[in-house]
Amino acid sequence: MGMPSACEVPSAGEAQGNGEAQGGLRVDWTALQEAAVRVRDTAYAPYSHFPVGVAGLVDDGRVVVGCNVENAAYGVALCAECGMVSSLHATGGGRLVAVSCVGDDGQPLMPCGRCRQLLWEHGGPGCLLLTPEGVLPMSAVLPQAFGPEDLQAAAERARHSAD
Ligand code: THU
Repeated sequence: MGMPSACEVPSAGEAQGNGEAQGGLRVDWTALQEAAVRVRDTAYAPYSHFPVGVAGLVDDGRVVVGCNVENAAYGVALCAECGMVSSLHATGGGRLVAVSCVGDDGQPLMPCGRCRQLLWEHGGPGCLLLTPEGVLPMSAVLPQAFGPEDLQAAAERARHSAD
């Protein structure tokens, strides 16, 4: 299968595969994308004029959202995903099982590299992402990721070499 052209990009409704995320949770991709679009409208992006919204389904069924918040000191800008993971923990924690991120056109937006790492930390390899090419697991979006296991493995090695 080649790269889809713009007109072949699946809609949120078409993209859901069997519609199930980790833990057998049903994902309503259309509702998740709508939540991302709603929160995108609250973005503070006076410098880039590129509003971003993101919505994540948590393993207990709740939905957490975030928007980008920029700063006159450009490098201090907070991506939408930063707000979402902060909200994840502020409202009870848990794991992200499905995420929809959108830009100004309301269509799926691929998270930047740093934010893929954030999604990896809080959702892991099985967390699903709605992309311009359909629903993909984070293992496909951030292959060979660095993660908590790498730190655990290093700690193990240090423990063994101290024995
Ligand atoms: N942005 C996000 O919020 N998330 C991403 O994954 C990509 C980029 C924001 C940061 C900045 O406010 C604007 O988009 C332009 O880069």
